[in-house]
Amino acid sequence: MDEKQMKEKLKGMLTKERYRHSKGVAETAVRLAERWGADEKKAYIAGLLHDCAKNIPAKESIELCKKLGVKLGALELAAPSIIHAPLGAELVKMEFGVFDGEISDAIRYHTVARSSMTRLDDIIYLADMIEPMRDFAGVEELRELSQLDLDAAMAAAFKESLTHNIKKDIPVHPNTLIAWNERIMNTGKKGQNGYSKFDKNSRQGSIR
Ligand SMILES: [Fe+2]
Ligand SMILES: [Fe+2]
Repeated sequence: MDEKQMKEKLKGMLTKERYRHSKGVAETAVRLAERWGADEKKAYIAGLLHDCAKNIPAKESIELCKKLGVKLGALELAAPSIIHAPLGAELVKMEFGVFDGEISDAIRYHTVARSSMTRLDDIIYLADMIEPMRDFAGVEELRELSQLDLDAAMAAAFKESLTHNIKKDIPVHPNTLIAWNERIMNTGKKGQNGYSKFDKNSRQGSIR
């Protein structure tokens, strides 16, 4: 399936707004791939297709996962909106003929992250958060940081996701906590860096 066919098919699976978001993620992912040295073509396809399962209703998603052997834990069943990530990782194979493991992994982990993320995982996770349509306090700083220091930007992105969930009384997926711990330790090793630039409340490189 070529890019044009992929876009046509995706358009039919998503709302207009979700499709626009997907194109924004694809374009942002390419820019991050250029900056941080990843395969730009894979970044584009993973970005474009990352939310391909997003508009499938919860009940249908759960049934599809059962059929495809996608294991769902208690957290996924309690918060079905995160199912679109592991389900999307399978749908890109079946529906779009994309059998690249790096692409499907980047899609699989784009909502909850994972331990030892690949460069492409990082890029899709971050692009999803900073694409041009995103609007939250700190998004501009995160966009800047994403060009300066990838580890610091990832730590800031996990922090955003974790604090968002905690503030809204939404469960936190252990993968995200593991990913945060890994990154903040990695970032901490560098001492003063872009991370404290992003978080104006943790100057002096303090790691909390
Ligand atoms: Fe998503
Ligand atoms: Fe998304």
